[in-house]
Amino acid sequence: MAKSSRIILSIIVIISISFPSALALQPFKFRRTPRLSGRFSKQTKPQPQPQPQPQHQQQHQYETKYYEQRLDHFSFADLPNFQQRYLINTEHWLGPFHLAPIFLYCGNEGDIEWFAVNSGFMWDVAPKFGAMLVFPEHRYYGESLPYGSREEAYRNATTLSYLTAEQALADFAVLITDLKRNLSAEACPVVLFGGSYGGMLAAWMRLKYPHISIGALASSAPILQFEDIVPAETFYDLVSNDFKRESTSCFNTIKKSWGELISEGQKENGLHELAKTFRLCRDLSKTEDLADWLESAYSYLAMVDYPYPSEFMMPLPGYPIREVCNKIDNSPEGSSILERIFEGVSVYYNYTGKVDCFELDDDPHGLDGWNWQACTEMVMPMSSSQDASMFPTYDFSYSSFQEECWKKFKVVPRPRWITTQFGGHVRESFFEKKI
Ligand SMILES: *[C@@H]1O[C@H](CO)[C@@H](O)[C@H](O)[C@H]1NC(C)=O
Ligand SMILES: *[C@@H]1O[C@H](CO)[C@@H](O)[C@H](O)[C@H]1NC(C)=O
Ligand SMILES: *[C@@H]1O[C@H](CO)[C@@H](O)[C@H](O)[C@H]1NC(C)=O
Repeated sequence: MAKSSRIILSIIVIISISFPSALALQPFKFRRTPRLSGRFSKQTKPQPQPQPQPQHQQQHQYETKYYEQRLDHFSFADLPNFQQRYLINTEHWLGPFHLAPIFLYCGNEGDIEWFAVNSGFMWDVAPKFGAMLVFPEHRYYGESLPYGSREEAYRNATTLSYLTAEQALADFAVLITDLKRNLSAEACPVVLFGGSYGGMLAAWMRLKYPHISIGALASSAPILQFEDIVPAETFYDLVSNDFKRESTSCFNTIKKSWGELISEGQKENGLHELAKTFRLCRDLSKTEDLADWLESAYSYLAMVDYPYPSEFMMPLPGYPIREVCNKIDNSPEGSSILERIFEGVSVYYNYTGKVDCFELDDDPHGLDGWNWQACTEMVMPMSSSQDASMFPTYDFSYSSFQEECWKKFKVVPRPRWITTQFGGHVRESFFEKKI
């Protein structure tokens, strides 16, 4: 068992299926974060005793535990520790005697329970490998908050300065090492998993801590979305293509809709009319807010365009982009472009049919962790091209990004740090050059 898992998994696999990559691809314009708050508003406080969690889905049984972590792994400063939450399932684990593997999910920028119940692959293969499942939460997200509360942790650039990928990787490394020691499982192989930013962490952890894991499965991990490694238009071109391949007229309607939005918004009473057309809960203060809300829907739809019904971002049917385009294309005769768009995005925002009106921004904190990360290390330039993209044309400008970050966090981004720390450029070496 352990041997075959070694062979199968001792390489870094970058799979580019559409694992929902939530925030990792939303940073450059300070887009809103996915609506975690609504789905996980009732968060339990850390418990002194580990307790089995009541599960909505039978197949996702885990215990919730807390591990005391250093705030700064890279200094000896006297700083307060914090409790890192982790979820663990040992139901199928065959134990140290069998050198049974440990599957470690690298927690992303959100509540770990959300990722745990949406990482079906790990649950599916755990019995086959006799594997333990461990899901450590990423610091500064969910319940793993330094300084005792979200408010304190997110207070300013000083308190946020320990929110980095390097610190998160060190958390995972320290936690898994300690856990293995506690279980006398030092010899058991660890395999890393992750999707989106969590996938980036899995790949990077394999690089930075090669002795800790035997392999990493990094799914939809945009580790090349830095500096100029891939063209800045890549993401929006791909999203647009997902719509275009369902229907060219759908793509064209969306592409035309931005101009419509702007001219509607400029009319007398236009913002009020737009709020009515899109059944918003409150009046619009600027057209851009509505445009952002629509852009988010299309981007997330591409990330969760699964062939089966799912509930990762939102409850959605299988092939949700197809459904959206059906609505856009087949709205009643005479429908305006914006009416069509409304019908389309309703598939995303109101598939359950239970929404009375739409809130454009229901993230009450405003300051979310990913924006901090994007403004420090995770500078991922993204532009929207004129032709291949259905989104409004947009040119990433580093200087305005930098300005925005300074305004928001009093911090200057380091756009070259990730490639310095983790690599990414493939430079043709002198010796490989064909003469
Ligand atoms: C951030 O807040 C902490 C705690 O209130 C304070 O000690 C620190 O000086 C502040 N730092 C900045 C840069 O404002
Ligand atoms: C290992 O055991 C110690 C002592 O009981 C405990 O404090 C620590 O949290 C455990 N480590 C993990 C990762 O659970
Ligand atoms: C959501 O869908 C239901 C059922 O189709 C509909 O009655 C309701 O008006 C929709 N909500 C919004 C805000 O459009």
